[in-house]
Amino acid sequence: MLKVYIEEETIRKRVREIAEDISKEIGNREVVFIANLKGAVIFFSDIIRNIKSSNVLVDFIATESYKGKETTGEIKILKDISLNIAGKEVVIFEDILDTGLTLNTIISYIKEVHKPSLIKVVVFLDKPSRRIVNLKVDYIGFEIIEDVFVVGYGMDCDEKYRNLPYIAVLE
Ligand code: IMP
Ligand code: MG
Repeated sequence: MLKVYIEEETIRKRVREIAEDISKEIGNREVVFIANLKGAVIFFSDIIRNIKSSNVLVDFIATESYKGKETTGEIKILKDISLNIAGKEVVIFEDILDTGLTLNTIISYIKEVHKPSLIKVVVFLDKPSRRIVNLKVDYIGFEIIEDVFVVGYGMDCDEKYRNLPYIAVLE
């Protein structure tokens, strides 16, 4: 059963606030925004449409770690970015920071292989209760204190529920 956890309007307001903060921070510098597929795609598309800059480039990376509600602990890069970001500023967007394994893998990979000048990190949800790797994140949409499995707004359970416009808990 699905129970609404964060409503659509609450998400919309918070996303606008984050986009404003990011807009202020980047000004009109050239910055590459990278979304981690597939979970971050809805959050990413809402954010980028609220960024007031004509120097934003977008790219995508794809990772896989979950089977159903459990992380496998082994993060695979399924698809790499396509732009050359060497020496450029990048902002990485992720749907949810849980154990930290996925973001940690992405950040190390991008740093070592693509050599940007600066990496900032934005997560829609932060679930600190199950953290294994500690990471510095620059922007957080919402913090989830309870250890619940959420779906919607891009996030899935076995590929379902990504299309929900709100965040729900699967019970
Ligand atoms: P981590 O590697 O454990 O930090 O988990 C990050 C990835 O796991 C995210 O990219 C999500 O796709 C997925 N994930 C973690 N927690 C949840 C959840 O509650 N609902 C849906 N996906 C989740
Ligand atoms: Mg997932």
